[in-house]
Amino acid sequence: RIVYCNGAYLPEAEATISVFDRGFLFADAVYEVVSVLGGKLVDFSGHMARLRRSLSELDLPSPGSDDELLAIHRELVQRNGLDEGLVYLQSTRGAADRDFLFPPKETPAGLVLFTQAKALRQTEAAERGLSVITVPDLRWARRDIKTVQLLYPSMAKMQAKAAGAQDAWMVGEDGLVTEGTSNNAHIVTADGALVTRALSHSILHGITRASVLRLASEMGLSIEERSFTPDEAKAASEAFITSASSFVTAIVSIDGVAIGKGTPGETAKRLRDIYIAEAE
Ligand code: PDD
Repeated sequence: RIVYCNGAYLPEAEATISVFDRGFLFADAVYEVVSVLGGKLVDFSGHMARLRRSLSELDLPSPGSDDELLAIHRELVQRNGLDEGLVYLQSTRGAADRDFLFPPKETPAGLVLFTQAKALRQTEAAERGLSVITVPDLRWARRDIKTVQLLYPSMAKMQAKAAGAQDAWMVGEDGLVTEGTSNNAHIVTADGALVTRALSHSILHGITRASVLRLASEMGLSIEERSFTPDEAKAASEAFITSASSFVTAIVSIDGVAIGKGTPGETAKRLRDIYIAEAE
């Protein structure tokens, strides 16, 4: 693979970052994941808008203009011959002597991008649906900022795997579902309404979520932006997740309780098909 590392396109084995990079030492960095279908970037402007917001919330330096970042994304897709998969971007506060205080503003941002070939359209997960377990949401309180502090989501996914499931839905102290470890969580009620938690500091403002809500309202679905409990989700007609890497993927069991018929629901399947058709 050819990766992008602080200004250069390099074979991955030759790309190195400083031991003092604050992304490495303090998780002082934000990231984005953009999917690629047929060599085309999906929802790119949405991801860049969220990157700007994450940077500004943390007072992080800009790693370049949107046009510059778009050019790097395109160059990497082209150099790696990527047809289907993901582009990962990480922007850090740069390298400086280890100090909890931020380094001077002039310290250049650290910027790394790489591609990951991955089947996205046709996957076993989409065909069969996924099982999730519920776990307490032990992340920090600014989950709307896409930081690289991913240790807890990683642990939750390991716990899901050990329990024979594929992912976890996290539950806040208020007993309400926040989101999946790396995706937004949604349910469909018996009368066909799409229920999804409203945007706040408690969840990441998913770019796929926003696109899917637009498609759902164009389809004539009623949308309720409100929180729900694991019990409401277990009794729902359908459950599904959205993210750049899963698009729309049905959840067929929660804590071992089958959702609907225990197979991917019709609403989730339709939204997935429409989302992919629009992205292509
Ligand atoms: N994760 N919630 C969390 C906690 C996430 O990490 C993600 C994305 C989402 C969905 O956001 P979007 O639709 O913009 O991808 C929601 C990426 C894919 C990842 O960490 O790999």
